[in-house]
Amino acid sequence: MSDNLIQQHMTKRPYLICLMMTSVDGKILGEKWGKSKEVQPLTESFEKVHELIGHKSWIVGRTTMEKDFTHYAKPVYKEVDHAINREDFVASKDADSYAVVLDAQAKLGWNSSDMLGQHVITVLTESVQDSYLAHLQQIGLSYIFGGKEDINLHVVLEKLTSLFGIETLMVEGGGRLNGSFLNEGLIDEYHQLILPLADGRIETSSVFEIPEAGRRFNATLLKLQEVKQIEHEVIWLRYKVAGQV
Ligand SMILES: NC(=O)c1ccc[n+]([C@@H]2O[C@H](COP(=O)([O-])OP(=O)(O)OC[C@H]3O[C@@H](n4cnc5c(N)ncnc54)[C@H](OP(=O)(O)O)[C@@H]3O)[C@@H](O)[C@H]2O)c1
Repeated sequence: MSDNLIQQHMTKRPYLICLMMTSVDGKILGEKWGKSKEVQPLTESFEKVHELIGHKSWIVGRTTMEKDFTHYAKPVYKEVDHAINREDFVASKDADSYAVVLDAQAKLGWNSSDMLGQHVITVLTESVQDSYLAHLQQIGLSYIFGGKEDINLHVVLEKLTSLFGIETLMVEGGGRLNGSFLNEGLIDEYHQLILPLADGRIETSSVFEIPEAGRRFNATLLKLQEVKQIEHEVIWLRYKVAGQV
């Protein structure tokens, strides 16, 4: 049995592969590096490696989704004259792949249930408005509840497997989303693309960001699986998570 299957069998949750592109100093805000002809081909390595890894479903944080994908679209509401049950809404059970986002307070605006060919699943809490849910139902965008007021990542992952059959999920940023999965011991593999550039900004985010309050481990140990130099002198590191200390 493969490692993936053993993991699924034990926990009935997807196998999580975190993929991030960084500067040599571990910073992740690619837009700060500009769009020059030297930098552009480096940042394109992210999508290429995502394709090479070959697992199409991915999850990101609310900030990454609104910045890189929905472009700060405002929430849309559909007025309803009845209460909507807090039941998960599965609009597509057999999509080829899924784009998942954590959006506890329903801040994201959606006009379509498709994001770059993937069916969108938004993870909400039960505190969101009925009119927000009514709109999502109308456009056929799936939503699941991660908790009453806060999102429980274990619950979310179990639902992604049981309701949508997701077996492997790419965890693709930003730092806060990655940090929250790492802090729960839920990341199985970590892939880092180190671009040949240094950032040096003190305030720029890094790959894993975990607030001190609520931090569960001093560090996460990794076991190196592979080091590859790919095009444009980008280094692709592949680790498995070995435990927490
Ligand atoms: N270099 C790369 O490979 C790469 C990849 C992806 C993204 N990025 C960059 O990363 C930046 C964004 O990173 P970020 O750390 O600021 O934001 P993020 O991780 O994308 O999103 C953070 C937000 O997601 C929600 N969230 C995350 N974890 C949660 C949890 N466990 N429970 C409930 N909600 C949770 C929260 O939303 P609420 O505040 O609404 O509660 C949180 O504020 C962007 O600039 C993006 O371009 C870089």
